[in-house]
Amino acid sequence: MDGAERSSGSGALKTLPMLLLALALAGCTPKRPPAGVQGDPERGKIAVSQYACQSCHLIPGVPGSKVYVGRPLSDMARRKVLAGALPNDQASLVRWIRDPQSVDPHTAMPDMGVSERDALDISAYLLTQ
Ligand code: HEC
Repeated sequence: MDGAERSSGSGALKTLPMLLLALALAGCTPKRPPAGVQGDPERGKIAVSQYACQSCHLIPGVPGSKVYVGRPLSDMARRKVLAGALPNDQASLVRWIRDPQSVDPHTAMPDMGVSERDALDISAYLLTQ
């Protein structure tokens, strides 16, 4: 009796790492962008790393140093206002990413020469998180 209980207990312990692995893998599968969002979030994720946005922002799913020069970009889909100045819709996000100085001449975020296509895909990725 006692022995059987103990062995079923260790069985549960053995499945735990598999369960955690499955959860971790599930976290990596691409999420679908919210309705009305244009662009390719998967491509956007790659573009984010290429432009090294993670050197100033904590971005979900993008490994990088834990830095807080700009705010973490983890809840862009839920935010109402962008950079304290723009309504947070996809068009504004693209505008900000391509040319932050056109929105706020004093912002510390540099113009990184992001192409229209890349900015659209990056915004799709951010809005999917
Ligand atoms: C040199 C550091 C730096 C880099 C690199 C950088 N940013 Fe920023 N970013 C900032 C700062 C600082 C702010 C806050 C600006 C403000 O509110 O005036 C900001 C703000 C933002 C915001 C608005 C966030 C909010 O809270 O409203 C978005 C979106 C954003 N950045 C996206 C990006 C993307 C995408 C890239 C890569 C193409 C990038 N940033 C690269 C520094 C940076």
